[in-house]
Amino acid sequence: PLVAVIIVAAGSGTRLGHELPKAFVPLAGRTLLERAVESVFGMREAAQVIVVAPEDRLDEARALAAGRAGSAVGYLDVVSGGDSRQASVKRGLAVLRPDVDTVLVHDAARALTPSALCDAVVAAVRASGAGVVPGLDVVDSIKRVDSQGAVLAGVDRQDLSAVQTPQGFPRRMLLSAFDTATEEQTDDAALVLSAGFPVSVIPGDPLAFKITTAWDLHRAELLLSARAQ
Ligand code: C5P
Repeated sequence: PLVAVIIVAAGSGTRLGHELPKAFVPLAGRTLLERAVESVFGMREAAQVIVVAPEDRLDEARALAAGRAGSAVGYLDVVSGGDSRQASVKRGLAVLRPDVDTVLVHDAARALTPSALCDAVVAAVRASGAGVVPGLDVVDSIKRVDSQGAVLAGVDRQDLSAVQTPQGFPRRMLLSAFDTATEEQTDDAALVLSAGFPVSVIPGDPLAFKITTAWDLHRAELLLSARAQ
């Protein structure tokens, strides 16, 4: 059986303050999309990699992704995205190969994610038969606040995990959750959970942080330049 990784890269990324859609923004000479694709093709096993890109950039996405596939054994498909992240994932699910048993969904914006984290998610899905998400302990104190900024209550951080991607699921579980979904959820784990399936957390990786703001992009550049020395 094959693993499929859906890389969602169809967002506009307005919070980054860049003219380009986020996945096409360069980071130390290579786009976020190229970096994400390279990390996924670095997995231990062959995968079907499905890139979900903006409709007007399909050819560009295909060329960038193919250039980073290297000599990896696997398959590459590029499809156009939808209006929301969830709609984009659904477009990716529509082209799963028949022999895929495990599906990972990954944000292109988490461009520095190590390949080993993808391998760990796949292994945990196969071992548990459930949904698996990487997560980090929350180190800050978290407060619930109202629109005026008044603190309403604290939230016990022992009960919290800051979850990342790739999020992995048995194929049938994810397809069933998408078929029954009635409303937009924040991520795939929330969708699968709301469909009544179990999801558990495995240790995430700080390098899998999501590049959202200009500061995140700067941080990613600093990390890469430190690695090059
Ligand atoms: O906007 P946000 O950072 O939460 O997006 C997370 C990921 O989902 C990004 O990689 C983005 O490209 C993708 N996305 C998408 N289609 C959308 C919205 C977001 O593929 N309509």
